[in-house]
Amino acid sequence: MIAMNEMSPVTEAQATDVKKPTLPDAQTVTFVKHWTDRLFSFRCTRPASLRFRSGEFVMIGLLGDNGKPLLRAYSIASPSWDDELEFYSIKVPDGPLTSRLQHIAPGDEIILRPKPVGTLVHDALLPGKRIWFFATGTGIAPFASLLRDPQTYEDYDEVILTHTCREAGELAYGAELIDSIRSDEMLAELMGEGFHEKLRYYPTTTREESAKMGRITDLMRSGDVYADLGVEPLCPEHDRAMVCGNLAFNLEIKELLEGYGLEEGANSKPAQYVVEKAFLD
Ligand SMILES: Cc1cc2nc3c(=O)[nH]c(=O)nc-3n(C[C@H](O)[C@H](O)[C@H](O)COP(=O)(O)OP(=O)(O)OC[C@H]3O[C@@H](n4cnc5c(N)ncnc54)[C@H](O)[C@@H]3O)c2cc1C
Ligand SMILES: NC(=O)c1ccc[n+]([C@@H]2O[C@H](COP(=O)([O-])OP(=O)(O)OC[C@H]3O[C@@H](n4cnc5c(N)ncnc54)[C@H](OP(=O)(O)O)[C@@H]3O)[C@@H](O)[C@H]2O)c1
Repeated sequence: MIAMNEMSPVTEAQATDVKKPTLPDAQTVTFVKHWTDRLFSFRCTRPASLRFRSGEFVMIGLLGDNGKPLLRAYSIASPSWDDELEFYSIKVPDGPLTSRLQHIAPGDEIILRPKPVGTLVHDALLPGKRIWFFATGTGIAPFASLLRDPQTYEDYDEVILTHTCREAGELAYGAELIDSIRSDEMLAELMGEGFHEKLRYYPTTTREESAKMGRITDLMRSGDVYADLGVEPLCPEHDRAMVCGNLAFNLEIKELLEGYGLEEGANSKPAQYVVEKAFLD
């Protein structure tokens, strides 16, 4: 679980009593944290039979007013070794699911179809030296899983997460995630002391002042990101990339990566980068 931050203007709730599920495919919410007025994360019980690869997504939801399940795709934000599942969610004011999902509390039930799928998995990439995780908004969710997976640090010498959001407050989930990874003794034991020295974090905002302003795509074109991190621009020999954001962002990054000579991979045909939409538009 991401460490609590006493300074955060958030509300949190933790389950004291896990009730027996009553819905089909039901899981019980154990923890909820609101990060901003449009973002929250939650944890729930994990079906005993659910096996997934870090980076995959599942369908989750609630029972609709018509008595039928109202389901949406959600990246699992927790790593595959975790006993519970974590999700990081938008709150769309008039969104059929999230206008209701944002009100869940510990002890409530959600529906979770235990059929994980997705392209943002290590199996879809050829071996490399450095991996880039490029995210906008809630597109950080699959990387929250992969960044807590020992394989990420076993497979690569360097792991770079870039996260671009409109406002500074929208970076909080990622910032706490990185802090918690760097200070977590259990993760260090699992992944080997010093693993976190491989981890680089590059958060940027576009519509509110923060330490680094600008879209990551523009910062790649200008060369800022490479100068700031002290690394060479991407090359097909050493670099691998995973991309998760809005459609326009995904397309722009794809063009950039292809320009560097990287080729798109898939589960069935591993290559140098993979892409997934953070939401449908
Ligand atoms: C592969 C995949 C993985 C996804 N993983 C996540 C996830 O981990 N977390 C998450 O919050 N959502 C995720 N989504 C989006 C999610 O499926 C729903 O769209 C979202 O929960 C909103 O549901 P809704 O019914 O309230 O509104 P919808 O009717 O589904 O969406 C309404 C509108 O809200 C906007 N929107 C939807 N989702 C987002 C978002 N995440 N960020 C910004 N704007 C959005 C879009 O403009 C959309 O047209 C994922 C989508 C896909 C395809
Ligand atoms: N975030 C908010 O505060 C907010 C508030 C109310 C409503 N909404 C609505 O919610 C929806 C999603 O908003 P969101 O902020 O979560 O996601 P978003 O619109 O996908 O933006 C997330 C980040 O991605 C950047 N981005 C967008 N297109 C890009 C591209 N082609 N290349 C590189 N970077 C790109 C954005 O930069 P730019 O800022 O330069 O676009 C922003 O920093 C939108 O329909 C929006 O109108 C958002």
